[in-house]
Amino acid sequence: MTAKIGEQLDLTPVRAEFPSLAMNAAGRTAVFFDNPGGTQVHKGVIEAIANYYLTSNSNTGGAFLTSQRSDEQITGAREAIADLLNAPSARQIVFGPNMTTLTFNLARAFGRTIRPGDEIIVTTLDHDANVAPWLYYEELGAVIKVVDVTTPDCTLDLDSLRSALSDKTRLVAVTAASNAVGTTPDMAEIISLSHAAGAKVFVDAVQYAPHAPIDVQALDCDFLACSAYKFFGPHLGILYGKLELLEELNPYKVRPASNAVPNKWETGTQNHEGMAGTAAAVNYLAGVGQRFGQAWQEKYVGQNFTGRRLDLKTGMSVIKTYEQQLALHMFDGLRTFRDFQIYGITDKALFDQRGPTFAFTWPRLTPRQTSEYLGQHGVFTWSGNYYALNLMERLGLEGHGGAVRIGLAHYNTTEEIDYLLNLLEAVK
Ligand SMILES: Cc1ncc(COP(=O)(O)O)c(C=O)c1O
Repeated sequence: MTAKIGEQLDLTPVRAEFPSLAMNAAGRTAVFFDNPGGTQVHKGVIEAIANYYLTSNSNTGGAFLTSQRSDEQITGAREAIADLLNAPSARQIVFGPNMTTLTFNLARAFGRTIRPGDEIIVTTLDHDANVAPWLYYEELGAVIKVVDVTTPDCTLDLDSLRSALSDKTRLVAVTAASNAVGTTPDMAEIISLSHAAGAKVFVDAVQYAPHAPIDVQALDCDFLACSAYKFFGPHLGILYGKLELLEELNPYKVRPASNAVPNKWETGTQNHEGMAGTAAAVNYLAGVGQRFGQAWQEKYVGQNFTGRRLDLKTGMSVIKTYEQQLALHMFDGLRTFRDFQIYGITDKALFDQRGPTFAFTWPRLTPRQTSEYLGQHGVFTWSGNYYALNLMERLGLEGHGGAVRIGLAHYNTTEEIDYLLNLLEAVK
């Protein structure tokens, strides 16, 4: 029998595909609520990585079997990510070690076009990987402006963006989902405002990609970055760019390396096994809708998508729907603690503007002590600033231990949430 949207769901088949979820910690099955720091890996990913080493291990472009297989794996991974993001072509997908390194590389290349007086906009909501790479433009004479959040709900202040934008703005660097408090700003509005001012937009989708469908063509963003280890794959960074921009810009590269897009953006020998694993992660997400059952898929109304792109939109929509339920369950539990300070959107009517990531403090224990206590009971959470430096400073938490972060993924259950809530309840 398939579950109806809104009904409890038996996640056993989904969880069985993630071998590490069966891990024992403190005498019970481990509870992974550290997902924003990195998700657990699907078994297909582990097999694809092992298979790469067993059958294809080589450098690229050679005139022999393993090298040809490596080339095929890389092409396959680019096509998979192009499908995940609904990119016009696989040539627009660049791989690298992680999002941070790719963003620094892009910033350095884009920096070659920066002139004194140009303006760059970053935000208070962003992870520092989408702030620090752009700050060095100050050395080039550019002006850095910071779009603020409203507190305590930690939503991006679009009036602050409107007044920061000018005809001198060259780039707006903005997150699609906060890694600390879960806010998912209105990207369509931000991109349209930015484009109206003549600015390019760089979207950090690292924390968005595991939770909802992404469509770079509908968004019309100029660049978008994410990381496969946040969506059930290996440690691999991903950058999408509009083709003309990837072609026009000149990244720093070694002279013999290809001048073609996307290869000119990929410095040195790449993580081929990671690419093989990333394609497997995408294939899992394309099939996840079926694992949740037919009733869960009805919610998605496809528009002009076919094949794996349609399956991915369906799968990611199913994940989004399920996680919204989980988030409400978590929130209903957390808000019963009267001495809790929850940072981020707490109005349930606005929950479509946030993902399933919660940050809180309470007077009973410090954030680190709370995470240690939960960890001792087999529940994995994070504490500190998680590199969301601007936000932690804005909330007055930087230098005070930050906050506890609980981040849900689609393999988490309401039973795990209840276990966490009971543990918190027991703290006097
Ligand atoms: C929102 C966000 N952006 C960027 C990053 C950096 O990603 P990476 O570890 O791939 O460099 C992270 C990592 O946690 C993140 O959460």
